[in-house]
Amino acid sequence: MTSRRPLVAANWKMNGTLASLRPLVDSVRADLDTAAEVVICPPAIYLAEVAGRLKGSDILLGAQDVSEYEAGAYTGEVSAAMLNDYNCRFVIVGHSERRSLYSEDDARVAAKFQAARRAGLTPILCVGETLAEREADHTEEIIDRQLQAVFASGEIVGAVIAYEPIWAIGTGRTATPDMAQTVHAFIRHRLASHGRNLAETIRILYGGSVKADNAAELFAMQDIDGGLIGGASLLAGDFLTICHAATGHPTR
Ligand code: PGA
Repeated sequence: MTSRRPLVAANWKMNGTLASLRPLVDSVRADLDTAAEVVICPPAIYLAEVAGRLKGSDILLGAQDVSEYEAGAYTGEVSAAMLNDYNCRFVIVGHSERRSLYSEDDARVAAKFQAARRAGLTPILCVGETLAEREADHTEEIIDRQLQAVFASGEIVGAVIAYEPIWAIGTGRTATPDMAQTVHAFIRHRLASHGRNLAETIRILYGGSVKADNAAELFAMQDIDGGLIGGASLLAGDFLTICHAATGHPTR
């Protein structure tokens, strides 16, 4: 038995405007009733707005990305210290959209991970394979490479890992609970080689087409400690159902 607290994180990506996001965050806040930890990661420009609307609630704030640099001539970037100014507690690093659309390699992801940690933020490190890599039976090798780059960069205590098979993101094609559990167990095994305590305490989220109707069966798996939710986090009712499903985790 472990005491990992389930975690559900909303990744709104680049969706919505103030007109749609204000009622979304207000509805989630009003109806949330879960023992799970819940995090909302809005677009950076709305962090202040969402922080204000979450004041006094248990819902935590996260960002979708962070610069690996502390400050300077990096047009368009947002530093970890800036995220701290808005009470961000979490930041997603290495999302597959950042890796593929913005050419973030393992070294950059590791640098972002450590920049977040230095500032006291909890990084949510995303790892996952493409469909071609899965079909070629390279899933573990790819994930191992992505993890090792970060493990080699420094401390990982307190971080969160999100397994997000790229072929399941935004496609409606979810990994089955067994498929996800197999990879989560592999990740935990890799963590164990850096210390048993690390393996037992680090939360591993599943992401990729988690919906209101499949969340409970995914979260019931031994090594799935919650979810990183994209599309379904933009619908208050669906997101609430997913958050409530996380309370039923067997390790609690
Ligand atoms: P999805 O996205 O839930 O829309 O598949 C998940 C993610 O990219 O984090």
